[in-house]
Amino acid sequence: MLVLGIETSCDDTATALVRDGRDVLASVSTNQDAFHAKYGGIVPEIASRQHVALLSAAVDDALGRAQMRLHDVDAIAVTRGPGLIGSLVVGVAAAKALAFALRKPLYAVNHLHGHIFAAFLDRNEEPPYPFLALLVSGGHSQLVDVRSAVGMRVIGRTRDDAAGEAYDKTARLLDLPYPGGPQLDALAREGNPKAHAFPRHRPDPGTLDLSFSGLKTSVKYFLESNEGRHARPADVAASFQAAVIDVLMARVDAAFATGEYRALVVSGGVAANSELQARVKAWSVANRLPAFIPPPKYCTDNAAMIAAAAYHQRAIAQADPLTLSADPNLPFVPSPLSP
Ligand code: KG4
Ligand code: ZN
Repeated sequence: MLVLGIETSCDDTATALVRDGRDVLASVSTNQDAFHAKYGGIVPEIASRQHVALLSAAVDDALGRAQMRLHDVDAIAVTRGPGLIGSLVVGVAAAKALAFALRKPLYAVNHLHGHIFAAFLDRNEEPPYPFLALLVSGGHSQLVDVRSAVGMRVIGRTRDDAAGEAYDKTARLLDLPYPGGPQLDALAREGNPKAHAFPRHRPDPGTLDLSFSGLKTSVKYFLESNEGRHARPADVAASFQAAVIDVLMARVDAAFATGEYRALVVSGGVAANSELQARVKAWSVANRLPAFIPPPKYCTDNAAMIAAAAYHQRAIAQADPLTLSADPNLPFVPSPLSP
């Protein structure tokens, strides 16, 4: 089954062709960073206009790279939500039009489920169910109990900032250019993670909640202090990163202590982080459990993960090309779409 995936939930105009939820024939992402950089963050109105300008070319590009034609495609998959409404509607409208004109099935995908199925792309072995997914992106940070492709439950979430948001805000405090996460990652490699003891959030008893806003504030006050003004930025970056990753890994350990999982999946933009990847690999060896992290290009937003999710969730994800609507607040729990 060859699926054309379309993802426009935020600021990446992404398309992909994926066979059987696994083999990526083409994955195209037109990054809009250049248009948003001068504002220091994503401007929704600009993102949505750029999607309009770029999406048709991105579909053609994916088809060209895979040496396919639209008629070779068996189904269209699109991100329905959550995300920026102005961005989502562009992808959803395009996907509806394509499905209707080609008379092919249309599948509506939750962006966050997409991040989980990124771990199924381009590899022979699939994560065995049940597994724990740590989803760390710019908009979300959560722990998900994944029983099957359609049976998932959020068992821990951030009370304030998402991990990626904490990276981006801290990067700005360090005067790093936008987008801050990858820049901070690179700077931290030159620093000492033990140079400064930033706080690690502890969850309320019985919860697996996360929190990063206290950490970000603590870095801010430190940088304004006398000691902070003379600190090496690389040491601050490495120490901040160590605190984020300690919190994430502590929550993973706590989840594994209570749930019987056969594997760990880590995905979302922050899963591209080099230190988090190293820590997860070490965790896998120490715990003798498989860990799945997509390659960086599938950690950040992409359309291959949306095509993969549609394939694995095809039993409940089919949508009507005449009536499907984008939903910026789409709930996480999978549910069959109304006809
Ligand atoms: O999943 P994603 O592409 O978009 C959302 O759905 O949010 O995640 C983007 C987030 C941004 O906050 C970005 O700074 C962060 O992922 N990110 C990173 C790295 N690469 C991307 N954070 C830390 N280290 C990285 N290497
Ligand atoms: Zn995302």
